[in-house]
Amino acid sequence: MQTLIKNGHIVTATDDYVADILINDEIIVAIGKNLKVDADKVIDAAGKLVMPGGIDPHVHLDMPFMGTFSSDSYETGTRAALFGGTTSVIDFILQKQGNSLQSALDEWNGRANGTAYGDYSFHMAVTDFNDSTRVEIKNMVDAGITSFKAFMAYKGALMLDDKQLVGLLEEVKKQGGLVNVHATNGEMIDYLIAKHRGEGKLEPLYHYLSQPEVTEAEASGRFVDLANYTGCPGYIVHLTCEGALNAVRERTQKNQKVFVETCIQYLLLDASLYEQNFDGAKWVMSPPLREKKDQETLWAGINQNLVQVVATDHCPFFWEQKLMGKDDFSKIPNGHPAIENRYELLFSEGVAKGRITPNKFVEVISTNAAKIFGMFPKKGTIAVGSDADIVIFDPNESHTISAKTHHMNVDYSGYEGWQVNGKVKTVLLRGQVAIDNDECLIPKGYGQFIKRNKVKEII
Ligand code: URP
Ligand code: ZN
Ligand code: ZN
Repeated sequence: MQTLIKNGHIVTATDDYVADILINDEIIVAIGKNLKVDADKVIDAAGKLVMPGGIDPHVHLDMPFMGTFSSDSYETGTRAALFGGTTSVIDFILQKQGNSLQSALDEWNGRANGTAYGDYSFHMAVTDFNDSTRVEIKNMVDAGITSFKAFMAYKGALMLDDKQLVGLLEEVKKQGGLVNVHATNGEMIDYLIAKHRGEGKLEPLYHYLSQPEVTEAEASGRFVDLANYTGCPGYIVHLTCEGALNAVRERTQKNQKVFVETCIQYLLLDASLYEQNFDGAKWVMSPPLREKKDQETLWAGINQNLVQVVATDHCPFFWEQKLMGKDDFSKIPNGHPAIENRYELLFSEGVAKGRITPNKFVEVISTNAAKIFGMFPKKGTIAVGSDADIVIFDPNESHTISAKTHHMNVDYSGYEGWQVNGKVKTVLLRGQVAIDNDECLIPKGYGQFIKRNKVKEII
């Protein structure tokens, strides 16, 4: 099966030109002007941008968390991602404390196999690092799971102490992987939560006030120092604020490299949303939304190459689930839905408003994640030999985000009523037209597991 995309304005992380793209089955086989081919299918992309499919390396699908499960499954979550231009996701497997990594992998394979629409891979969250877990790290790397998550918070459920964290960093370094980290000071947060609850301060606002900037700045700096000591490549997930980014910035003066991810919500939303009584629960997530000055720092950090990835931390819960915490903020399931909105929101708020260039957009929405997590150049670019994961995008069509029209399995939107400039029109995943004009054209189960390579520091 040959598909020809004609006359599109191709944008990659480095280039920007008008050409045709020829796809043979799943792979891009030629790029050039006026390709003369008698293809089975021809797509006219004149006047449109043709960009790599988005890669969201931070999602939580069907995840057991805080006494419930995140509400998007592999089926609904990867399908919604495709509607929004994201063709690949990396989800987090959670080891159960006391159990093996392999048993957690089996459980997640059971969720994903045969149900995903989009391509997916896994990070392995190590929540109990001990002698038997250490041995399993190599098995995971051999299976193509080359990144390992450490939580420095959520004590008693997910958190590693510093002793375990250093052990994990050493072993992952030895096996050629990378450690990504939820970098907040769990002990200090638990102290503040208990203090606020003891004072009868139970509204969502106190979720925010229990995780001040210093909890993230301190842990981010500590993580970078420990990663540096062990020589292990590190990646800070969902970094939100000036203090944390400055902790990373300072350490780059020692010629130290650590990758930084922020998420779309931290660029666009701020903590004033917590001031509206329980409605603020929609944005209860960890770390919480921050201040306007932090948004400015993050946009600048993207342009300074200090922030390499914009993800979502997609972790949706129905309103009914959020109500679990109506009398106590510490029981509100943490997380918000965004997997479908990231690509268009970042284009609209970033490129259309002149904050980032189209090349930078592609870099942080797709290419850098592919490079950092061992998928490049199969994923993350438009080049001969790459998977044909392609978004055909109309930069001039605007629309409004609403829970009434989104495809995520959740009954509200964190961005209800937001007007976005630019729209995903057609999405190809490995050469198949997956989305066209708001219709999904591939079957459930089309999505494949992406076996990732060992980590090379190539950006
Ligand atoms: O609030 C969040 N971020 N929920 C998902 C779990 C995590 O910490 O990433
Ligand atoms: Zn986290
Ligand atoms: Zn997360």
